[in-house]
Amino acid sequence: MAKMVFNGILWFMVLFVAYNVVESSTTYNVLDFGAVGNGASDDTQNFLQAWDSVCQDSSSPTLLVPQGYAFLLQQIQFNGPCQSEIHVQILGDLIAPENTWETSDPASWILFQHVQDLTIDGNGQLDGHGSIWWDCFQNKQCDKRPSLFAIFSCNNFHMSGLKFINAPMMHVILHGVSGADVNGITIDSPQTSPNTDGVHISNSENVQITDSNISNGDDCISIGVQTQDININGITCTYGHGVSIGSLGMNGASVQVEKITVSNSNFISTTNGARIKTWQGGSGFARGITFEHLNFDSVKNPIIIDQNYCPHCQAVPSSSAVAVSDVRFIDLKGTSDGIPIKFDCSETIPCTDIIMEDVNIDGPGHSECVNAHGSQSGTIVPPDPCLVP
Ligand SMILES: *[C@@H]1O[C@H](CO)[C@@H](O)[C@H](O)[C@H]1NC(C)=O
Repeated sequence: MAKMVFNGILWFMVLFVAYNVVESSTTYNVLDFGAVGNGASDDTQNFLQAWDSVCQDSSSPTLLVPQGYAFLLQQIQFNGPCQSEIHVQILGDLIAPENTWETSDPASWILFQHVQDLTIDGNGQLDGHGSIWWDCFQNKQCDKRPSLFAIFSCNNFHMSGLKFINAPMMHVILHGVSGADVNGITIDSPQTSPNTDGVHISNSENVQITDSNISNGDDCISIGVQTQDININGITCTYGHGVSIGSLGMNGASVQVEKITVSNSNFISTTNGARIKTWQGGSGFARGITFEHLNFDSVKNPIIIDQNYCPHCQAVPSSSAVAVSDVRFIDLKGTSDGIPIKFDCSETIPCTDIIMEDVNIDGPGHSECVNAHGSQSGTIVPPDPCLVP
């Protein structure tokens, strides 16, 4: 009997090992496809060949970008659909060319599209060499600039650890994504770099952005049209324009944005903190939005809803607007060197169900509220009467 049990265990182990050998996934190292990684030779075609092999492999393969190398890539697209889930491990650095180029649409230096169940991780750095683009843009020679990194139509996407620096325009775009989890990334560009949003999310649902540090020259995280179930947690935004819902409703656009939460995050020397911005003349809604447990350090406008958004222009009153409702500001603290609380809502479609609870912002400014309806509880500093029932 003991022997039979022993035999049974032995067979089980043999089958278990065999099963794992058959199922083990293949790793494709870009060096094996001729990539050089000396920062000077162009490795674009080698990466594309490696991607072809990875994408056609059904063993849940890994594309490996090894540590200790800098791979120069031209504008590149990694296209799906692929045969199975894919792991891209970026341990080395990726660098963009030191020249501007004519961008094709979709304009992004590195793009992954139509790849399901994609995981991208590692501690590699992606350098977009943005300064040449910023200069070119400021000299009015480049009005089309690529984003650094974009994920289009990839469901069940995971990303962690990477560092993105010097984007020509936005750093990371998530568009048309259902289910995404971005954790522990770093984004770093100068305070003066134009339009360098950290993460931009549009036409997406069920997205988590957590435990990341973003220092840049525009929105830290911007949430665009047709988005729902977005959770931002544990972010530090430095310089730049804070976390922004919008801008929404430009050129009469109809938008649906709901169930957005921004929590446990820090804002350091940003121009805005918790912000919703909409253009006059849009339609649809932004609702079910919660900003909670946020700290502000020298933020110009920590709490702001602006339904008259019109940068470099004067908002023209319109009979339609994106309806802003059910917005909660809970446990928000810190310092402001501008207007601590500003609700500038539409006359025709005022903001409704705005809730403020325990808001304490120190600074010389006074709150400004127009057409903002809702209620407040707990300690509210500055204590100016603001919301009306
Ligand atoms: C973000 O910054 C904090 C404070 O400096 C640090 O502890 C944390 O590890 C950083 N996170 C990442 C993803 O680099």
